[in-house]
Amino acid sequence: MRLIHFSDPHLTDLRGIPAKGLSAKRYLGRLSWHRRRFRHLRSNLDALCAAIMDLQPDLIVLTGDLTHTGLPEELAQAGAWLRSLAPPNRILVTPGNHDLYAQDSWAACADHWGEYLPASPSSGQDDKDADHWAGFPAHRTFDGIHIYGLNSALPTAIGLASGELGALQRQRLAKLLAETPSAALKVLALHHPPLPEVMGKRRALLDAAELQPLLPGGHIVLHGHGHWNRSYAAGNTRIFATGSASTTQAPFRLFDIQPMAAGFNVRMELQVKQGDAFRLAESTEFVANIRP
Ligand SMILES: [Fe+2]
Repeated sequence: MRLIHFSDPHLTDLRGIPAKGLSAKRYLGRLSWHRRRFRHLRSNLDALCAAIMDLQPDLIVLTGDLTHTGLPEELAQAGAWLRSLAPPNRILVTPGNHDLYAQDSWAACADHWGEYLPASPSSGQDDKDADHWAGFPAHRTFDGIHIYGLNSALPTAIGLASGELGALQRQRLAKLLAETPSAALKVLALHHPPLPEVMGKRRALLDAAELQPLLPGGHIVLHGHGHWNRSYAAGNTRIFATGSASTTQAPFRLFDIQPMAAGFNVRMELQVKQGDAFRLAESTEFVANIRP
């Protein structure tokens, strides 16, 4: 199986969207976009997409931040781009904090990329106790490889980019993992880093401590959010962060996964753009889920 991970394309263009009437959070978000608008270029993302399509992945995993301020107009732009990239059975999308930026973002997300979500979100998104993470985790399987997409994004106060999975989503993940055959390879994907110490509290996954017992030892976690490329570990769980897809480097990770007599052979390549081509920046090969 060939899986490709990329993240944080921040592909939307706010120039045609009026600033009048924006909330304070969105107004500040727009100023931030204005400062960064030459850092996130569509041409870089287009080059990445062409390169990954040439590699014919079985599944693309995209860990969020398609937009800047989660406006309905931006979510419509993102939905059109998703449809141009791949059908829903070829891409697993988990929202980022910039996608679910404000209370109206979730409904617009369902309107414009509903076919890429595991289920329609429930109403009442302004209620913290509501099941904001409806339908997540998304769950895909390919020949003994199980991929779980988690939604760690939710609207936050000004100045915060933190995330949360919520008790209900964690319970559903625990149930899914318990039902997964022990011989399977498990891949978790989410926007925020799964460990509490990786980022400051303002940008962290607030229930990372509660997620720790669920991280599958010997398996794989993919995430974005930090706009950096990093390979690290929690115990024997391998964690791969991939930077922003629309920056000059336009990084993506390719995973070629082969079942073996015991476990799965995984070859990971980090590819980054250099001029008009992509080059290998990092590679590793390991055996995941080694069974006795
Ligand atoms: Fe981002």
